[in-house]
Amino acid sequence: MNSFTFYNPTRIMFGPGMADQVGEQVAALGSRKVLLVFGGGSIKQTGLYDRITEQLAASGIAFVELAGVDPNPRLTTVHKGIELCRSEGVELVLAVGGGSVIDAAKAIAAGVPYEGDVWDFYMRKAEVKRALPLATVLTITATGSEMNGNTVITNWKEQLKKAFGSIHTFPKLSILDPTLTFSVPANQTVYGIVDMMSHVFEQYFSLTPNTPLQERLCESILQTVIENGEAALRNPQDLDARSNLMLCGTYALNGGMISVGVQTDWASHGIEHEVSAIYDIAHAAGLAIIFPNWMKYVYQARPERFAQFAVRVWQVDPAGKSTEELALAGIEATRQYFTRIGAPATLGDLNIGEEHLERMAKETVRFGPVGSFKPLHEADVLEILRMSL
Ligand code: NZQ
Ligand code: ZN
Repeated sequence: MNSFTFYNPTRIMFGPGMADQVGEQVAALGSRKVLLVFGGGSIKQTGLYDRITEQLAASGIAFVELAGVDPNPRLTTVHKGIELCRSEGVELVLAVGGGSVIDAAKAIAAGVPYEGDVWDFYMRKAEVKRALPLATVLTITATGSEMNGNTVITNWKEQLKKAFGSIHTFPKLSILDPTLTFSVPANQTVYGIVDMMSHVFEQYFSLTPNTPLQERLCESILQTVIENGEAALRNPQDLDARSNLMLCGTYALNGGMISVGVQTDWASHGIEHEVSAIYDIAHAAGLAIIFPNWMKYVYQARPERFAQFAVRVWQVDPAGKSTEELALAGIEATRQYFTRIGAPATLGDLNIGEEHLERMAKETVRFGPVGSFKPLHEADVLEILRMSL
């Protein structure tokens, strides 16, 4: 394995009922005025909005609101949030929602003390030096944004979706109450499953030798997601399944705990972001289409890892099969699982045709080739997109 540093400063409070701790905990962080960031209304429908604002009031914390953060959060919304924080003297950003809300909140937190446009961070023109403190209450299991420093924002005007990660944008505190995810609809539950699995794939399919613990951590998360994903889809109020999924989502992408010392890939995420930048599709709907095709395109760089994946994660019987056959069986099992739980299989399923593939491929490699398992250039990305049609 490679040498590494690992850093994760996020305090996690996990369990049913933890959402009732938010007032007290935000007060303990020493902030008297917060920006409450949330999405399109699910937190009002579930009663969570009232539950949180009542606690803030009881703890003597003033708040201003930024409502209506879209899935694939927009730069324009982030700008609005930064202005609000500056004009209202906000001391902490409190995100209540999913990855989109949390990512927007991170962008706001980093943008407030920065003199230029926050978009500079996403275009690699500047680095975050400091940020407002951030706390989150997670309502959907998927991105891991609750315990990492990453944020992904869409600049709709330029049709770009870009990311950055910083040690300054880890949440100080994240409240993970699995009962809040009982109301997540089936399609979003499916996307969460695919996203978490994809995060593990990005870290598991690696050329780095001698990483048995990291591999087994990845395989355990994948197996746990596979088992509990279907249970949560059968019964959305299955507390055990929702709890296990929530823990998996947080472990799958939290500053690299499962991939310390491993060179990770992230090409499929880079490609998907450019698809959703143009078509505004759900992030993991894109991943469900692209990832199996990425696997087919690259597996020959280390077929043994794909064979191991087939045997250990999908329980493919290795008897009488070559490494190549096992590798392909694992990829097929992944495709079949995604299809079985209801995820799309082709860009055509989302009414996406060839029109913008070239632009997507070009934009994916804007900062250079993507991926490490097999570094991908523009022509490779274009081929994977064509395979996905
Ligand atoms: O907006 P509301 O009304 O809240 O509805 C949301 C939204 O429509 C709904 N929802 C959330 N919690 C719910 C609920 N509905 C009912 N009950 C609940 N408890 O779910 C919908 C999707 O929410 P969103 O936050 O967009 O989902 P997700 O957590 O999957 O986040 C996706 C975004 O995160 C980015 C993606 O690119 C995408 O923009 N990512 C962020 C990452 C990170 N920061 O580390 C990594 C990921 O790879 C990803 O790129
Ligand atoms: Zn993702």
